[in-house]
Amino acid sequence: MPASPCSSIIHDQMRVSLPTLGNQPPPASNQQRLAGDLRDSHGRVITDLRLSVTDRCNFRCVYCLEPGTRFLPRQELLYKEEYLQVIQACMNLGVRTLRLTGGEPTLYPELDELIEETGKLGLDDMAMTTNGWSLNKDRASRWHDTGLQRLTFSLDSLREDRMAAITRSKTSVSQVLDAIKTARDAGFPRPKVNVVMMRDINDDEAVDFARAARSHDLDIRFIEFMPLDSARDWDKNQVVTADETRRAIEAVWPLQKEDGGNPSSTSCNWGFADGGSGRIGFIAPVSRPFCGACNRLRITAEGRIRPCLFSHDEWDLKPLLRRGLPLKDIQSFIIDAAWNKQPGHQIGQDDFQQPARSMSAIGG
Ligand code: 5AD
Ligand code: SF4
Repeated sequence: MPASPCSSIIHDQMRVSLPTLGNQPPPASNQQRLAGDLRDSHGRVITDLRLSVTDRCNFRCVYCLEPGTRFLPRQELLYKEEYLQVIQACMNLGVRTLRLTGGEPTLYPELDELIEETGKLGLDDMAMTTNGWSLNKDRASRWHDTGLQRLTFSLDSLREDRMAAITRSKTSVSQVLDAIKTARDAGFPRPKVNVVMMRDINDDEAVDFARAARSHDLDIRFIEFMPLDSARDWDKNQVVTADETRRAIEAVWPLQKEDGGNPSSTSCNWGFADGGSGRIGFIAPVSRPFCGACNRLRITAEGRIRPCLFSHDEWDLKPLLRRGLPLKDIQSFIIDAAWNKQPGHQIGQDDFQQPARSMSAIGG
């Protein structure tokens, strides 16, 4: 029998009067809810969490964050105890590795304590991505001694004038290189450096970065520019593909592919064929999407689960956390959210829609 207009009004009123927990992800299959791990409806198992701890940044990188972008008020972000609950819930569901991100995670006031307390939880790996701006010896040593295992730095040019133009900040190249050295002195093995390659901006620096990898024993990762810029100016023509960058390096130093240990790794890694130190990696989400092997789940600084960088749906954990719901309810919510992970992105295709958030508000 078709519903009468009256019954639909009553139904809507009932819905409105129900206590709201925010948006609920459509439920996972019964089988998955019982399985107790994190798996999406496409069969991918989630074992890696990317947790953003702030949407703030002191840089305004051209491919990421527009000047004038408004940040969330502090009270909108999760508290340290809530981040810890989220990490524990994900670990109970099989997550083994964690990357802390931002914005710029070192701007999060309780970062040192968060690292220390997370270090006691027994993850296989805890890493962090930073622009290197506020690193000092004491802090880096403290992170290292309390459980942070790996640091990745963002550095897109080795030329001071370009560095200023790209980051729209006063940070110098030498400051970031010093931060990398400090990280190494504090015990972080071969720090990684992320380089976002952009046409006519830094695409002529591939060989210079390779030289830096060799002389400083660095792990340089070239990343293809993705449509996650808050200016929403992304254009296919600005993307420098991994193949193009690799060819430029190989014209000087041939590379040798390293065994891919982790099939879910975003990066394809190469060593220098002549045995030179350092390593080169390529992250090619545009020219060679790796969505089929993705094992990641992202949670934003204010507690929204984004199963994919390019998700249009986000599932808000904060209301559950703020109501003090037991961990098993938080876990059920995360299971459902993960189940709804989209199969992939359509970057470059006609039906691609850029998500509303920029990288800085998602967490890289
Ligand atoms: N495309 C590719 N990489 C990006 N990053 C930020 N924005 C983009 C983008 N639009 C990178 C940063 C940082 C990492 C977390 O993500 O360089 O190293
Ligand atoms: Fe900040 Fe990183 Fe975005 Fe640059 S890429 S603006 S350093 S969050």
